[in-house]
Amino acid sequence: MEKLKVKGKKSLSGSISISGSKNASLPLLAAAILSDKKIVLKNIPLVKDIFTMVELLNYIGLKIDLNKKKKTITILHYNKKISTVAPYKLVKTMRAGILVLGALLGKYKKAKVSLPGGCAIGGRPVDLHLFALKKLGATIKIKNGYILANTEKGLRGNLIKFPSISVGATENAIIASVLAEGKTILKNCAMEPEIQDLILFLKKLGCSISSDKKRNIFVNGIKSFLPVTHKVIFDRIELGTYLIAAALAGKKVSFLNISPKIISSELKVLKKMGVKMEIKSNKITVFKSQKLKRINIKTEPYPGFPTDLQAQIMILMTQANGKSKIKESIFENRFMHVPELKRMGAKIKIKDNTAKIYGPSKLSGAEVMATDLRASVCLVLAGLIAQKETTINRIYHLDRGYEKLEIKLKKCKAIIRRI
Ligand code: UD1
Repeated sequence: MEKLKVKGKKSLSGSISISGSKNASLPLLAAAILSDKKIVLKNIPLVKDIFTMVELLNYIGLKIDLNKKKKTITILHYNKKISTVAPYKLVKTMRAGILVLGALLGKYKKAKVSLPGGCAIGGRPVDLHLFALKKLGATIKIKNGYILANTEKGLRGNLIKFPSISVGATENAIIASVLAEGKTILKNCAMEPEIQDLILFLKKLGCSISSDKKRNIFVNGIKSFLPVTHKVIFDRIELGTYLIAAALAGKKVSFLNISPKIISSELKVLKKMGVKMEIKSNKITVFKSQKLKRINIKTEPYPGFPTDLQAQIMILMTQANGKSKIKESIFENRFMHVPELKRMGAKIKIKDNTAKIYGPSKLSGAEVMATDLRASVCLVLAGLIAQKETTINRIYHLDRGYEKLEIKLKKCKAIIRRI
């Protein structure tokens, strides 16, 4: 099994080009099922979850071509036999497989999608996805670990108010309502930039869809599609991760292919902590910071601070003066990285969904084990500032979501290798 070895205490300098967003690409790929015209998606990140989604669409029967050199996916629809099944073997490794449910149901009036099951960070139910699809007229049964969804007469637009905010359920509901008869109004939606990118993509496909600032999304069902070329937005979580790496160990690191306005809550936190940055309209440069200040934060749906950066910001807090606090309000079990960080010398206490981080503390290299995608990358960040060498095991999690992580860090003079 592959491992990463990181030698700490090396200052970073150079520039990092941020990849396209994994979490934006996945719903776009699922939505591609709806269309019968050519779709070209550019700026696709070359990460494992994307390869799994491509495999899933292939399995379903779409003609899909991933050009790794150009980072482009071309999807053609031919009248080959379509399977409306998303099998367990593909959904178990990538929970976003559930996003094909709304598209299959909308287009083929039936779908059989494996229940994704839990994962390290929590139970991760799909009740909100099913709630929305039922409101659109689907009949749903759960049998042998699969969601069996049907709609004899086709989906019908409706008013759907989500009882709580879910990114995936919002995406599934938007995608399903595109081919539903009439108008759908979705309330209490997630408004992440990845959802805005999905809305933009669907507009290019010919959909009549809009959103407002009060978490409402309006979709008018359509019957025909336009061919489309779409560039996926940059990965704001990848950017946030490397900004934190630069704040921890950087002398001068610049970030390209980005738009700072999308990450304003993250930038606000970094500024409050005393991170020295120069922010331009399409570039951020991080300089060596003198003293980092403590801060209290809470993870929230966008535009709040993202749960996907919680583990990474915790490393910065270990280097700040005083007691910082993180309240994790999205997932119930997302402090799995803490025991490993403690083994490296971090001083952290957890009570319920709040972590208290006492800094500054000297971290020392150790052999550690990653439990999920973002926990893995936080161990890499810890390794960058730890004394001696850190060995990170189970890095297959990292490959699910970070494109060429060690190559990007090496370009900035980090000493990191995969063995
Ligand atoms: C997406 C992101 C993930 C991110 C998360 C929260 C993708 C592929 N993944 O995951 O990286 O961490 O948003 O920003 O985009 N919930 C329910 N019932 C449901 C669905 C969700 O109770 O049917 C709960 C979840 O358990 C969780 C919360 O709602 O506590 C938010 O989850 P959700 O926004 O759905 O996350 P994902 O879409 O799975």
